[in-house]
Amino acid sequence: MTIQQTLSIIKPDAVRRNLTGQINAKIEEAGLRIIAQKRHRLTKEQTQAFYAVHAERSFYEDLCNAMTLGPIIVQVLEEEEAIAKYREVMGATNPSNAAPETIRYEFGESVTFNSVHGSDAPETAAKEIPFFFSQIEILR
Ligand code: RTP
Ligand code: MG
Repeated sequence: MTIQQTLSIIKPDAVRRNLTGQINAKIEEAGLRIIAQKRHRLTKEQTQAFYAVHAERSFYEDLCNAMTLGPIIVQVLEEEEAIAKYREVMGATNPSNAAPETIRYEFGESVTFNSVHGSDAPETAAKEIPFFFSQIEILR
């Protein structure tokens, strides 16, 4: 088991519906520790850069629009195997396929408005965390 850090985003749809506290409770109940957190409003350019890996996908434009509708909460989570653990807590990308009690099952509205993002691999987390946070903002 390895201690990992992962980037979490509470997406605009969930922030707008005032779900930050309920989502944070699910994160903490799963044993993940929030070691950095801030509110941010993504520009279209920042969103396109963050999701550049999906640039050729049919859903890219919808995704970029959804991520810029309002403020997000960005977080760094830490725990043993945090990346896989948070993906489990989030649930499947499409809330219709998400397991009961997961964040997307309880709060997701659709595949586009699915409430949270989480890094999908150590290499991804290593890029996504410094995209939003400097080292002095991460307090273990
Ligand atoms: P995320 O990156 O946000 O944590 O989500 P994920 O790994 O579960 O899903 P990914 O395949 O990386 O897709 C990124 C986000 O794009 C939107 N999406 N829409 N309409 C569609 O078919 C579709 N597929 C993906 C979702 O908002 C997804 O979270
Ligand atoms: Mg992804």
